[in-house]
Amino acid sequence: MPTSDVVQRGARVVRRLSRGVRRRLSPAVPATPDPQQVAELKRVRKRLRTARAQVERLTEELNAVRHELSATRHSVRDPDPTIALPAEVSATVERVREQRLSYLKAADLEMLARLVVQLEQSGRPGLVIEAGTARGGSAIVMAAAKSPERPMKVYDVFGMIPPPTDKDGDDVHRRYELIRSGGSAGVGGDTYYGYRDDLYGEVTESFARCGVEVGAHSVELVRGLFSDTIDLDEPVGLAHLDGDWYESTMTCLQRIAPLIIPGGRIVLDDYYAWSGCKTAVDEYFADRPEFRLEQRAKLHVVRL
Ligand SMILES: C[S@@+](CC[C@H](N)C(=O)[O-])C[C@H]1O[C@@H](n2cnc3c(N)ncnc32)[C@H](O)[C@@H]1O
Repeated sequence: MPTSDVVQRGARVVRRLSRGVRRRLSPAVPATPDPQQVAELKRVRKRLRTARAQVERLTEELNAVRHELSATRHSVRDPDPTIALPAEVSATVERVREQRLSYLKAADLEMLARLVVQLEQSGRPGLVIEAGTARGGSAIVMAAAKSPERPMKVYDVFGMIPPPTDKDGDDVHRRYELIRSGGSAGVGGDTYYGYRDDLYGEVTESFARCGVEVGAHSVELVRGLFSDTIDLDEPVGLAHLDGDWYESTMTCLQRIAPLIIPGGRIVLDDYYAWSGCKTAVDEYFADRPEFRLEQRAKLHVVRL
């Protein structure tokens, strides 16, 4: 039986025993307690203590398993960690981090760059896509790693993130409320991307400052909601989806996944971070055996 089921069962036992104790302590108990009832109450209390201890032990075990699972996912972050990154791509990762242009860790930016290099080395065709770019960091790294001729499309509203929907959980709604109320901080304490006056202009400049001027590198920054802008009919080699919420993720999957070439890949930044993204991914791939899901530091989906 999975550990989480055992914990739930333990919690049910504790609740049942607590109800029993409360019933026995109700005002119906006579002034002079019945010795049999007192003995039973003692037995129930003892069982309750044992059950509580069991729940605590199982919770600790569950947390240890979660921790181990997360460490395992991180240990298989890169599908091919042997791919060496060109020096200028490593320098771009450093620049993006120094300039606080990305929420991603250096290791995750390097993983994306390796996937782009792998795509180039394989000689496969296909667009490189990022949907959800904020200040541009991860897109800049991917653009630096690709050949200047390979087309790349970068989709973003370049303003405030759109609101979540009923398909997103409380975690997402709480986060959105903080953003909406003006209380969100950006990377490293900078101004949050959604509060900036000209994000599109800033991102265009950041590409150039990091040595990957958009025009010279076949990069198109496409401004607007994914539902209004993603309209493709060409093969896609690699897609990095980082739009946080359910609708954003589902729209990208519906419009991009069917175009992924065999051996091509989608990386989902938010699968472990936001409930709505996980729901969209689980729903979309529930009945699509032509894709393989790989639980790495980020979730990867490979077209078979
Ligand atoms: C977490 S940020 C992206 C972070 C970025 N990849 C990085 O390197 O830090 C998510 C971005 O997706 C955008 N976004 C989310 N849903 C969107 C939608 N439906 N249409 C357009 N942009 C969307 C947000 O406005 C935001 O810029």
